[in-house]
Amino acid sequence: MADSPRHPFLQGLSIYRGAPPTVVVIFGASGDLTARKLIPAIYNLSHDNLLPPDFYLIGFGRKPVPDEEFRRHMDAAIKEFSRREFSPQVWDHVARNTFYLAGGYDEPGAFERLRVLIDKLEAQAGRELQSLFYVSTPPTVFRPILENLGASGLARRHLGTAVQSKVVIEKPFGRDLTSARELNQTIAGVFQEPQVFRIDHYLGKETVQDLLVQRFANAIFEPLWNRNYVECVQITVAEEVGVGARGGYYEQSGCVRDMIQNHTMQLLALTAMEPPVSLDAEAIRDEKVKLLKAIQPLATGPGGDVARAQYLAGLAGGQPVPGYVQEEGISPQSATETYAALRIAINNWRWAGVPFYLRSGKRLARRVTEIAIQFKCPPGALFAGTDRFDLAANTLAFQIQPDEGSTVLLNAKIPGLETRTQPVKMHFRYATTFGSNTPEAYERLVLDAMVGDGTLFIRGDETEASWRLITPVLESWQAQPREGLDGYPAGSWGPQSAEALPAARGHEWRKP
Ligand code: BG6
Repeated sequence: MADSPRHPFLQGLSIYRGAPPTVVVIFGASGDLTARKLIPAIYNLSHDNLLPPDFYLIGFGRKPVPDEEFRRHMDAAIKEFSRREFSPQVWDHVARNTFYLAGGYDEPGAFERLRVLIDKLEAQAGRELQSLFYVSTPPTVFRPILENLGASGLARRHLGTAVQSKVVIEKPFGRDLTSARELNQTIAGVFQEPQVFRIDHYLGKETVQDLLVQRFANAIFEPLWNRNYVECVQITVAEEVGVGARGGYYEQSGCVRDMIQNHTMQLLALTAMEPPVSLDAEAIRDEKVKLLKAIQPLATGPGGDVARAQYLAGLAGGQPVPGYVQEEGISPQSATETYAALRIAINNWRWAGVPFYLRSGKRLARRVTEIAIQFKCPPGALFAGTDRFDLAANTLAFQIQPDEGSTVLLNAKIPGLETRTQPVKMHFRYATTFGSNTPEAYERLVLDAMVGDGTLFIRGDETEASWRLITPVLESWQAQPREGLDGYPAGSWGPQSAEALPAARGHEWRKP
């Protein structure tokens, strides 16, 4: 790494997250994710001098595209989507090492050509290169890609060394427990688990990582983090956008597969897991799996633990917007949910009896992701019995996005000669304390995969534990597609039927 200057931010850090010489191969190179996220992430890593000195990029796709055209396409993606302005000084040396290879995902010959190209680049570099295969295609071709990486020998390049091949797999990771297991088996037939990086981009978000720091680097929270002090926990992942142009995908997915099974369950696992024995990837993932396994099966049907709904016509940003079934590519008879809420019971020593409420939806009142820990009210009635005392339950809320930070809700005395109280908020804001140029989730995740750190990726047993909980819900909805399917106006906080989940335990949803 000596020939790669350090970014000023890294100076003084004892651990330099250096990646070995690498060739990144992106399957699905002409896709949206490549342009919006992957290429800007690689650009920003280059800007921060975090790419290894020998870094190569190969776009792999079905369409024949000359190298030059692919490079121009990547430049345009950076100009449009990077958080930093395009600078040729930062990018030219990466662009020079960028190539495109056309081929079918099920065409063994194409993988043979890929192997030859990687060998050639390795000869050019004069040193061994790690191959990082980034599978960013529709899930229908995951299997042929993985099998061809196996058959061509690419998956086993330099196996057992610091530059062994790695594979990054984008979501969706299966559509139920059976397909997730099948996918895990296909992967296991080709790669060893330490070579595999299953992406959940929420884990790359700065504030999600901060959750671990807040929980385990501060002494004041952990003693309260249990059934003796916590009344309930609410996790909200709300979006203001509708399905947009992704109707075709979303119709087959719905909110539970798209947001709950992965992102929301990961937030739950990090919030509720036991302290890991170390910050090692396996130690953290062991605790997440244990937590996911302690969740009780969800009751479906009337009075159960789940609610689902579709958005109706309403407002977004003050403008009228159509309902879900009027969107492009959506069947007018669609029963796909755009909102889902769950009441979760965790049957372990720490959390028995504490409900966890999870919800996610499109076209909600505003974009916000938040984890709120609501504490029990203090015993005794010192401040009660008169309307002079306006009191609220203490709440610790982590704002994951967009206004990153955390807030503690406390009760305080209003200044004056008589004792009156009012809830007040103590804020910590990332933007105020640290400035606002936070790295994007994909920067961290691409770097971690190159470095071989799996902490922020999902292990095979984790994804299966999450599907084990969710699959019976999806099966019951499939059996009765319209039962309990509610509606909510775009721009609202969701359907009426979801109010019943917290209300049955004497709680109500927050309006974050
Ligand atoms: C993706 C979902 O995984 O996450 C999208 O497929 C959703 O439907 C997106 O919009 C939300 O991500 P973020 O980072 O914007 O909160």
